[in-house]
Amino acid sequence: MKPVIVVHGGAKDIAVDKMAANQAGCLAAVEAGWQVLRQGGCAAAAVEAAICVLESDQTFNSGFGSTMNSDGEVEVDAAMMAGVTLAWGAVAAVQGVRHPISVAHKIMEDKPRLLVAKSGERFALEHGLELCPKEDLVSPEQYQEWKSGVEVVDRPNTVGCVALDVNGNLVAGTSTGGTTGQPQGRVGDTALVGCGLYADNRLGACSTTGDGESIIPVVLAKTAIDGLAAGSHPQQAAQQAIDTLVERVEGEAGCILLDRQGRIGWAYNSSAMAIAYMTDGLPAPVVFTGQEQPQSTAAIASSGGLH
Ligand code: GLY
Repeated sequence: MKPVIVVHGGAKDIAVDKMAANQAGCLAAVEAGWQVLRQGGCAAAAVEAAICVLESDQTFNSGFGSTMNSDGEVEVDAAMMAGVTLAWGAVAAVQGVRHPISVAHKIMEDKPRLLVAKSGERFALEHGLELCPKEDLVSPEQYQEWKSGVEVVDRPNTVGCVALDVNGNLVAGTSTGGTTGQPQGRVGDTALVGCGLYADNRLGACSTTGDGESIIPVVLAKTAIDGLAAGSHPQQAAQQAIDTLVERVEGEAGCILLDRQGRIGWAYNSSAMAIAYMTDGLPAPVVFTGQEQPQSTAAIASSGGLH
């Protein structure tokens, strides 16, 4: 099987002067994941590697650089799902964990659970995962924003990755700092299977981004996967899922979708969404800053995908 990896840096408005950083971050993430896949590594390791890069980059709303809640603190959510067994793991409202996606991955390997707040932090500690003072996840920009009380509108919302490895296994992962000024303890879609992510080797893998309060009622990731089950190309299924979100709850979101044949698709109704992907046969990863998507995604769809 030809390995494929796709990452996103969040669906939202992105200021022109932040485009380059979004592009560079997504490229670095896809390259980290691709290193794993091209050496025959598994999709879960590739997804973790890619998302760890995004969680370390303050450009993105995940890990370091996450948006701050109403108490001026960072609380993060993350989840991973493996399509081979439908195994999953998730954390929500955790603090002081350097890489929430690594905790979600470890929980997935342990047993399917969503561990919230102290219980997620305790799991990370007990399993030797990297902890840090909770203040270490606060970036200077986010602190200034919170202190000034001015909401920055160009912060990309949530990061994610989907990957297919040489053994045909699909994995999805998603990680977020939630929404700006969210009440302490608020949890959105990211940690919820079917909403923030889904993976099934029989169909495909999906990671979503956007307004959790809208994504949850339309079960966005599973809705996109259901489009694949109905025979749609991933591009069409992704677009149909976003259309459903708009039609039913007037939400704003995006998703990336990869099917079991390695074909990719994405859609969003925000003004931008940074995306990067890589597969065998491409000389280098492809990245979109989000502004040029109509021709590119249409071209992929009309050519029947990447393969
Ligand atoms: N999609 C991230 C959140 O709503 O929390």
